[in-house]
Amino acid sequence: MKLLVVGGGGREHALAWRLLQSWRISRSIKVFVAPGNAGTAMEDGLENLPITAIPELVEFAKKESIAFTIVGPEAPLAEGIVDAFRAAGQKIFGPTKQAARLETSKDFSKAFMQRHGIPTAAYATFSSAAEAHQYVDQKGVPIVIKADGLAAGKGAMVAMTLAEAHEAVDAMMVENRLGNAGARVVIEDFLEGEEVSFIVMADGRHVLPLATSQDHKRLKEGDQGPNTGGMGAYSPAPMITPALHARIMREVIHAAMQGMEQEGERYTGFLYAGLMITPDGGIKVLEFNCRMGDPEAEVIMLRLKSNLITLLEHALNGTLDKVEAEWDRRTALGVVLAAHGYPDSPRKGDVIHDLPAELASTEEPEKDFHVFHSGTALGAENGKEIVTAGGRVLCVAALGDSVKMAQRRAYEIAEQIHFDGCQMRRDIGYRAINHRK
Ligand code: AMP
Ligand code: GLY
Repeated sequence: MKLLVVGGGGREHALAWRLLQSWRISRSIKVFVAPGNAGTAMEDGLENLPITAIPELVEFAKKESIAFTIVGPEAPLAEGIVDAFRAAGQKIFGPTKQAARLETSKDFSKAFMQRHGIPTAAYATFSSAAEAHQYVDQKGVPIVIKADGLAAGKGAMVAMTLAEAHEAVDAMMVENRLGNAGARVVIEDFLEGEEVSFIVMADGRHVLPLATSQDHKRLKEGDQGPNTGGMGAYSPAPMITPALHARIMREVIHAAMQGMEQEGERYTGFLYAGLMITPDGGIKVLEFNCRMGDPEAEVIMLRLKSNLITLLEHALNGTLDKVEAEWDRRTALGVVLAAHGYPDSPRKGDVIHDLPAELASTEEPEKDFHVFHSGTALGAENGKEIVTAGGRVLCVAALGDSVKMAQRRAYEIAEQIHFDGCQMRRDIGYRAINHRK
């Protein structure tokens, strides 16, 4: 069986690694990762494919008789990769370009939530900077300014002062720092609370919730500093009680699925709701993403015990109501090692030293960690060296009987790895540890 994973980050490494393990009994599985990274290049059974153009990926899938394709990141979904594969009769798991607007346009997403009674912060959308400034003055701070389009995690500014809010409006709408993505902005009320990541698989009609997770978005310890794509994550999220889980499924996930169906665009693929759980126990959707989170995927995949291929086959056949996912009861915690200069201008080419040698051994049932690669590449000397090649470089994910034990194990391994300028938060999981107290 041949499978294709589109993308080249830690999330795709985790998905491809878990797919390989789904088929332990038979060795006849091959997973292509396009374009992949140094980590996927080194795993036994994975093969990198240096292709990113959608028409070429379609051709490859046809020529190689790929059983099905899974899409990791949002960019190819926004470009319509799912539509292109389906038009060519190729199986692919992800949302169509239209359905992906839940992530690719904040204005669409917010209006959709309002139309279908999905709880979210009050907001207004602007294409005129003058009107946006006026609205900021009228609302006061704290307030949140968001670029309408995709901005690789840099599109949201939580402004605590009026000066910051006005600056954010100007940066996006006048100086065009985010290009077209910032031509329109959504300005929404600031919400207090704790964030959780709630990710499901959807087949158009049914959903299968994955394990809950939380990530740390800020660069610095104590959740300070600039927003990033995520500096670490853990699963499960201890705040999600069974009662809260049921409410999220009803008020957010099923409401969104029904809304998409009513609007003529059934949702297929991973659906990620970024939620704020407010101090009074309320649920508010901060954002929808049309993909798995990164680094959430790394910790979720580390805990998945069910056969991922089987789950995806059910998703592609529209029978997700017939399966359940089984999870390792332990906590998984992932620590991100980021490049010098991340998130503004990550430096490439730093040599990574002392990666655990057994990276390629996917067969050890006792192994309680995995080092997932994000921005890495095989460097000089015919790939003997591994070098940094992106903002987030590695995610060291480990299992433990408690959050504390998973944390200790992840840091034990992460601290052995070295590269110049490495940025790593030392406190991933602190909220979950406090929560237990
Ligand atoms: P988003 O891209 O919409 O998920 O926003 C990125 C991050 O900004 C979120 O993960 C939150 O940490 C923060 N954020 C977004 N919207 C709000 C809000 N309404 N209130 C408080 N924080 C927010
Ligand atoms: N970790 C947050 C995201 O993937 O958007």
